[in-house]
Amino acid sequence: MDVIETIEATRNAVAAARATGRRIGLVPTMGALHAGHEALIDRCRAENDLVVVSIFVNPTQFGPDEDLNKYPRPLGADLDDCRKHGVDLVFHPAVEEMYARGAVTRIHVAHLADQLCGRHRPSHFDGVCTVVAKLLNIIQPDRAYFGEKDFQQLAVIRRMVDDLDMPVQIVGCPTVREEDGLAISSRNAYLTPQQRRDATVIHKAMRQVAERVAQGERNMRALAAAARIRIEEGGADAIDYVTIVDPLTLEETLELVPQARICVAAHFGGARLIDNVPLDAGGRPD
Ligand code: PAF
Repeated sequence: MDVIETIEATRNAVAAARATGRRIGLVPTMGALHAGHEALIDRCRAENDLVVVSIFVNPTQFGPDEDLNKYPRPLGADLDDCRKHGVDLVFHPAVEEMYARGAVTRIHVAHLADQLCGRHRPSHFDGVCTVVAKLLNIIQPDRAYFGEKDFQQLAVIRRMVDDLDMPVQIVGCPTVREEDGLAISSRNAYLTPQQRRDATVIHKAMRQVAERVAQGERNMRALAAAARIRIEEGGADAIDYVTIVDPLTLEETLELVPQARICVAAHFGGARLIDNVPLDAGGRPD
């Protein structure tokens, strides 16, 4: 497995693989790899000839009061994990390599980036889109893999790729959960044991909504309000949103549109956790 820190050397390594007809898959990450990333890497391995993982804690997607400095960076363990999962190339640039002095360009996906988390983290998706666009330009993969846990991120990236005619297939992969339903996230490491137990209420509340939809309940606002109360009473310190959205616009929907999602962002201690499940009319709770 190659570990490369410069854009130029990465471009050269990927170009050499492409010249021999190999299909390139990219899994963009900020490191602190866990079972969710491993599932993305395994899918990428199964569908491509050259598997590239980027490990870069992207400063432009963190707000001034967010956890950029304390974000975990266990590089040695991440590289071991990549080796175990058959990664061919890890791109691990320094901040100065990714953002040359004076770089000011940002990509804003209007509307979609302003909903849900966008209301609470105003420049977050501009930072995500800018770094993902840069990674796609540097590596030029055939496919890039993202988790559905970050449902808004996936929607925003799909829109950017469509709008800017980027020649890459975006592959969304199902959320990976602990046995008790908690979505696996690097930020779960911030939870105390009590907060970790409390945080399972997010998935329980969302499942209850999915079950009630399957039983015929159609008052979306009342369902979201009930889930919010359950999460509050279950120990959340603050809730940014509990909303049922149209998956295409990410706006609140008052009707059960196809693939409507309940989306949650809630704080437990120092961890801001996000999660979502689809509310199929056929009732297939995640
Ligand atoms: O989902 C993440 O880990 C990040 O937002 C991403 C896509 C790697 C961009 O920094």
